[in-house]
Amino acid sequence: MSINKRQPFVAGNWKMNGSLDLVKDFNEKLAGFSTNTEVVICAPATLTHAFNQNGFSVGAQNVSHLDNGAHTGELSVGMLKEAGCGYVIVGHSERREDQGESNALVALKAKKCIENDLVPIICVGESLEIREAGEVESFVGQQLKAITDILSIEELAKTVIAYEPIWAIGTGKTASPAQAQQVHEFIRGYFSKIDAELAEGLRLLYGGSVKPDNARTLFAQQDVDGGLIGGASLKAEDFISICQAAN
Ligand code: 13P
Repeated sequence: MSINKRQPFVAGNWKMNGSLDLVKDFNEKLAGFSTNTEVVICAPATLTHAFNQNGFSVGAQNVSHLDNGAHTGELSVGMLKEAGCGYVIVGHSERREDQGESNALVALKAKKCIENDLVPIICVGESLEIREAGEVESFVGQQLKAITDILSIEELAKTVIAYEPIWAIGTGKTASPAQAQQVHEFIRGYFSKIDAELAEGLRLLYGGSVKPDNARTLFAQQDVDGGLIGGASLKAEDFISICQAAN
């Protein structure tokens, strides 16, 4: 799996949705899907083995930071790879909130992925409360710092970062293209202080109520390299149209 410099990237996050029937539908409708965009479907781990990966790749939505062993209910990097995954979403706000995942734990998960040739799609993003308090950059900066504290430049270059403002997730309240660009520029700037070449090559995705009718203007922003798509990734036609918008 090679990652080209700033090749557009669109990932679907099925969350706790989907079935073998939906996988079959995607296998048929995306068959041979050819685009300049790297396309990934992050499905429940019980389904990933069933995708034919014809024209797209497959990822999971979480992974353990630990090795195989006595950790009931967890899934390791090796297990996900056997189930066909090349990517994993880590640190989604729903897991940070529902499972209390800390910045430090998210960073450990990202590191585990890189060490085992899985691409982590690392999620960051603020709540409405933090936005209204004018603290977006300090909050997102803290989330990034946990990762840059333990990953080397070479490791960071193998990640994908997704900016997902919590107030835009599943609400239909998409960030405006200007709001998305502003935070993406901050994120790229954060990485450029570590290494200019790293920052230039890093793919930054926007997530939060991306739909076929708003994808193109969001993806047209200078520092937006694609999207992480929730609800609209559950319908093959919508997902394909969003992937085409990233070209
Ligand atoms: P929606 O596209 O449903 O807002 O979800 C975004 C998301 O959380 C993707 O990870």
